[in-house]
Formats: sequence, structure tokens, C-alpha cells
Amino acid sequence: MATEDSSVDYFVREIEKNDGSVLRMYQCSKGDVGCVVWDAAIVLSKYLETEQFCSTQSGNSTWSSKKMIELGAGTGLVGLVAATLGANVTVTDLEDLQPLLQLNIRKNEHLISTGSVAAKVLKWGGNVEDFLPHPHYILMADCIYYEQSVVPLVETLKVLAGPETCIICCYEQRTVGVNPEIENRFFELLLQDFQSEDIPPEKQDPEFNSPDIHILHLRRRVS
Ligand SMILES: C[S@@+](CC[C@H](N)C(=O)[O-])C[C@H]1O[C@@H](n2cnc3c(N)ncnc32)[C@H](O)[C@@H]1O
Repeated sequence: MATEDSSVDYFVREIEKNDGSVLRMYQCSKGDVGCVVWDAAIVLSKYLETEQFCSTQSGNSTWSSKKMIELGAGTGLVGLVAATLGANVTVTDLEDLQPLLQLNIRKNEHLISTGSVAAKVLKWGGNVEDFLPHPHYILMADCIYYEQSVVPLVETLKVLAGPETCIICCYEQRTVGVNPEIENRFFELLLQDFQSEDIPPEKQDPEFNSPDIHILHLRRRVS
């Protein structure tokens, strides 16, 4: 069972869902980029909860019983929220992030009733056999930021997404340094095989949205 590592300095970020329940996300004060919750993860989590997908009246959720894989999950916030909304989620990241993912699953799994969540290693560009058949949804928040990862990330999306898979990609547009170049390269490669739909702000959470954070739905082009 995942427990807190006494050598790690944690700080907790509380994220309140629309139903009033609160996720307690453990973050590390030292570590790589994945050990804190990024804004794109909050924007995407809140989008998953919007009325178009989760009716407050009927309690029905589009995500119920859907197979989802989150890439570069970091703390696991997005996948955990999806699981509380009824999805069967695998949150994935590099080996180093597994203890934090396990810890956050343990700290929040009491909020999951019909869905499920598990953590696994998935290094972009690596073998995805363990993750097949293709999921209904692939989730990714703030994963387009690292030059060397662009090609392997696109490769993973190509092999993991089937004809019916929808990739829900949320990213923060950064205008400094090499960031615009990385972003252009990523979309140039991805859009050879996928078509993209921009989600306008009015379809996002009314509070948790931002002009520099984009949400896209990406689906395989039909040839
Ligand atoms: C900026 S963080 C975003 C974390 C989380 N999605 C969020 O928005 O809070 C990027 C994540 O991608 C993961 N990552 C980077 N390169 C990766 C690779 N080659 N394979 C798998 N995950 C990778 C990092 O470990 C990190 O958790």
C-alpha cells in the first residue's frame, strides 16, 4: 500500500468538485515538473465536470464506464477526477512519478464509487501493448513542453488511439523561448494523422478557463 515517504516534503492542494467533494492532491516541494498540479490539469478536470458531460439533474455522466488513459499524469488529478465521474482510468507517467501517483490514488479513492483508477508506467515512445484495446479517451494536460519528447509523444498517441478514440488535450500556450517551436512541431506532426476541434471558452468551466490554456478534441482522420 502506498504511504507517505518520510524523506519527502509534501504540500497538499485541495480541489473542490462541483458536487462539493474535495480531492486532496499531494505535491512534492522538490522534484521534477510532474510533482505539482499544473493549471492545465485544473482546467481539464473542471471541463470534464461541465454540465454537457455530467448532468446535475440526472446524475448521468458521459464518462461512466469509459476506458481512459491519462498520459504524463504527474500527480494524477485529471485521471482521478475522471474516475470519480465513473470512468475506468489508468493514470500513466514515468517510473519516478509512480509513488506520488499511488499516494494520490490512496488519498482520494474513497471519492470513487462506480469508476476505477490504477497507475502504470508509460514512457512515451515505448511499448503500449499493456494498454490495448484502444481506450475511449486519452487525456493529457500540459504534456507539450519538452523538445526531446515531441516525436515519442506523437508516436504514443498514434499507436494508442484507435479509430473511435478521442484525445482530450489541454495545454498552456507559452510564448517564451523554444516553447512556440515545440508546440508547432507537435501539432505539425500530430495533425498529419488527426483532426482537431478547439473547445471554445463557453463550453469550458465558467470560472476555470484562461485565454492561454487551450482544450482540443483530437480524432483520427478518416482516410
Ligand atoms: C508539466 S507536467 C504535467 C503533469 C500533469 N499532467 C499536470 O498537468 O499537472 C508533464 C508530465 O509529463 C511527464 N513526462 C515527461 N516526459 C515523459 C515521457 N517521455 N514519458 C512519459 N511521461 C513523461 C512528466 O513526468 C510530467 O509528469
